[in-house]
Amino acid sequence: MLTSPPAKPLQPATSIVVLLVSLSSASLSSSIISANSSASNSAAAEPHDDSMPTFVPRGVVVKKKHIMHDAIGFSSAEKGKNYTMEWYELFQLGNCTFPHMRPENDTPFWCNQGAACFYKGIDDVYWSQNGTLEKVGEISGGQFNKMARWVQDDNQTGVYYETWTVRSDPGTNSNLWFESYDCSQFVHRTYRYLSQQGARLYSRSQTNYTKIFLYSGEPTYLGDNDSIFREPSAKTLAEDIRKFYHAFRSQQSYVDLILSLAEAFHKVVEERSFYLYYNFEYWHLPMKYPYVQIMYEEVHLP
Ligand SMILES: *[C@@H]1O[C@H](CO)[C@@H](O)[C@H](O)[C@H]1NC(C)=O
Ligand SMILES: *[C@@H]1O[C@H](CO)[C@@H](O)[C@H](O)[C@H]1NC(C)=O
Ligand SMILES: *[C@@H]1O[C@H](CO)[C@@H](O)[C@H](O)[C@H]1NC(C)=O
Ligand SMILES: *[C@@H]1O[C@H](CO)[C@@H](O)[C@H](O)[C@H]1NC(C)=O
Ligand SMILES: *[C@@H]1O[C@H](CO)[C@@H](O)[C@H](O)[C@H]1NC(C)=O
Ligand SMILES: *[C@@H]1O[C@H](CO)[C@@H](O)[C@H](O)[C@H]1NC(C)=O
Ligand SMILES: *[C@@H]1O[C@H](CO)[C@@H](O)[C@H](O)[C@H]1NC(C)=O
Repeated sequence: MLTSPPAKPLQPATSIVVLLVSLSSASLSSSIISANSSASNSAAAEPHDDSMPTFVPRGVVVKKKHIMHDAIGFSSAEKGKNYTMEWYELFQLGNCTFPHMRPENDTPFWCNQGAACFYKGIDDVYWSQNGTLEKVGEISGGQFNKMARWVQDDNQTGVYYETWTVRSDPGTNSNLWFESYDCSQFVHRTYRYLSQQGARLYSRSQTNYTKIFLYSGEPTYLGDNDSIFREPSAKTLAEDIRKFYHAFRSQQSYVDLILSLAEAFHKVVEERSFYLYYNFEYWHLPMKYPYVQIMYEEVHLP
């Protein structure tokens, strides 16, 4: 698949194209990339390959409301070799958002692992039909190699996928309680990194991203699965959390997730209460109007 590191010392004289893409995670699930552990190493080596010069960046802006996926593409202008990089929920979006409730076990079971994936090719038709492919900049082979190393570090720092962004209210001066940790945040982090490395990023179209907001007063820390589900003293809380998550079903697609959310929405509104699982810990959110919102907001390139 990807070439092995060249024997020669690297001459990162080549430049790379960064391609930004946004897609529906619902429809992307059929083309999930099995993360290939050797991929990013090989990718780091790639620009050193003499036969692999200029890349050209593009970006995609998605118009459809239900669409929620963002990735970065890399395209070698000379060789035409393409790669796509994205942050992916390893067990589908629904599983990252709601746990599985198992009858034989009291502790909610989360499959919310997220990881960076790097794979060959850019599905041009797919991305452009569902969005707008656009070049957003050019980087050198050296910058690409640095980025490849940075991605591996970044990939170790957060190993989960978080759908929700939690704020105190929709206003611009609101408190941000929790930031999502999803595909678009990964794209933003990568752009910031590239920009710090001196890459100039630009876009002619508006770059909007889907975000799912919860609105709440100050969150209260509850504990982790052991302190809540193993301690007899936390029995009532544990039952409450289980009941809460029973209202939601783990959904495969983004669309189903929204439907499920709508069903459970009245519960959130009535009880003004939400149990958030964030980075392996539980928090209680005292929910506030307008409770839940899905926004398609512009985030400028760095
Ligand atoms: C992983 O990459 C290697 C070479 O880089 C390739 O031979 C192998 O088929 C890949 N595995 C998968 C699951 O894509
Ligand atoms: C990111 O980490 C996961 C394991 O959590 C691994 O499978 C994946 O290959 C890594 N991705 C990159 C681009 O290194
Ligand atoms: C690489 O991507 C560019 C832009 O998306 C496309 O025009 C080109 O055909 C692709 N090349 C290959 C070999 O897939
Ligand atoms: C665009 O997305 C829709 C669903 O969101 C999917 O059915 C369709 O196949 C996608 N287009 C392409 C070319 O893959
Ligand atoms: C609690 O979560 C940790 C990870 O944070 C996991 O290793 C452990 O197995 C979980 N315990 C139960 C009972 O699910
Ligand atoms: C993810 O969720 C789907 C639908 O609920 C389920 O069929 C699938 O087994 C889950 N994946 C994992 C790894 O638990
Ligand atoms: C993109 O975001 C901007 C500002 O956040 C908004 O005004 C605009 O309507 C959005 N575009 C679309 C197509 O929703």
